[in-house]
Amino acid sequence: MLTEEKIRQVLKDVREPDLNVSLVEAGLIRECRLKENHVSLKIALAQTGTQEQMQLQQQVVQMVKEAGAETVGLRFEALSEEELQKLGAQGQGQAQPNVTDLLSPDSGTTVISITSGKGGVGKSTVTVNLATALQRLGKKVGVVDADIYGFSVPDMMGIDERPRVVGEVIHPVVVQGVKVMSMGFFVEDNSPVIWRGPMLGKMLRNFFGEVEWGELDYLILDLPPGTGDVALDVHQMIPHSREIIVTTPHTTAAFVAARAGAMALKTNHEILGVVENMSYYPLPDGTKDYIFGQGGGEKLAENLKTELVAQIPLGQPKQDVAPGEHRTAIYPEGSLIGDIYMDLAKTLDSKVR
Ligand SMILES: Nc1ncnc2c1ncn2[C@@H]1O[C@H](COP(=O)(O)OP(=O)(O)O)[C@@H](O)[C@H]1O
Ligand SMILES: [Mg+2]
Repeated sequence: MLTEEKIRQVLKDVREPDLNVSLVEAGLIRECRLKENHVSLKIALAQTGTQEQMQLQQQVVQMVKEAGAETVGLRFEALSEEELQKLGAQGQGQAQPNVTDLLSPDSGTTVISITSGKGGVGKSTVTVNLATALQRLGKKVGVVDADIYGFSVPDMMGIDERPRVVGEVIHPVVVQGVKVMSMGFFVEDNSPVIWRGPMLGKMLRNFFGEVEWGELDYLILDLPPGTGDVALDVHQMIPHSREIIVTTPHTTAAFVAARAGAMALKTNHEILGVVENMSYYPLPDGTKDYIFGQGGGEKLAENLKTELVAQIPLGQPKQDVAPGEHRTAIYPEGSLIGDIYMDLAKTLDSKVR
């Protein structure tokens, strides 16, 4: 017969994914109720809403069912800052913190840098939407916002939290299943900071080496635009990155973007393709108004001997936002542009295999 005691027994070896402590021993099973053959559990985790939580959820449901439950209801809550500090210290005593260096070529993570010749073409928009689309495909995705001229990723993803620091390890913010680190998290009130090359390099290195990313399939980088020293430094720091070049359809924009492409090639980064953003305005009758000109993306791809992997029309992510809801730059699943990003994610995913 199933008892609460037995459920705890069955789960005793399940570990908290970030903290590496036993859920049962660390008291993270907050509720365990048994009614007829329905089990309801409440589990506290360092981070909720992650892919690791999904995996844990499946694992726990399966184990409890195998122990005799007919149905299992799971709820999750986030640990308080105080508990997190306490447990973080315990977990580290037992095992090395699980920080993988994403810069190491055998980390198994595909790094994709999003670059452009100049600002304002939609580099950050492409970053957050590509990351979200890959996540919607079931990939484990991280984003690093490294555009020192403006950290827009937190805003675009509707983030107002800050990363948590446990012991010596930084935990990225998780939003809609995507893990995010931004230099903007460490800048007070968006006050302008002059980032010098070496300092930027140091920060970025910390992002790759000291942040608890867990396992990632993809890490998407929003890089500074242009071809200056800063951009070059960053490119050189990530030796095995692949690149997407973002441009608008105007031919002069594409000309400027070509220089960013040339830098990718100079640093031996494979160019995965060109994304043409703001390609056209979709009219209600199904036709397209090419208000910013035509052909820039195609020409650039040809120039760089790569492919035009997406043409993204003009459009607002969401017309109306409920009170209290964040306005984000993420196009919903099933919308015209949301679907184009899904296609882009699938194309890239098959290219990197
Ligand atoms: N396809 C699009 N349709 C409409 N507005 C867009 C589109 N792509 C980007 N934008 C808007 O254009 C501006 C610049 O985009 P952003 O992603 O911040 O560019 P960058 O990172 O290259 O500077 C932002 O206000 C963004 O919301
Ligand atoms: Mg930007």
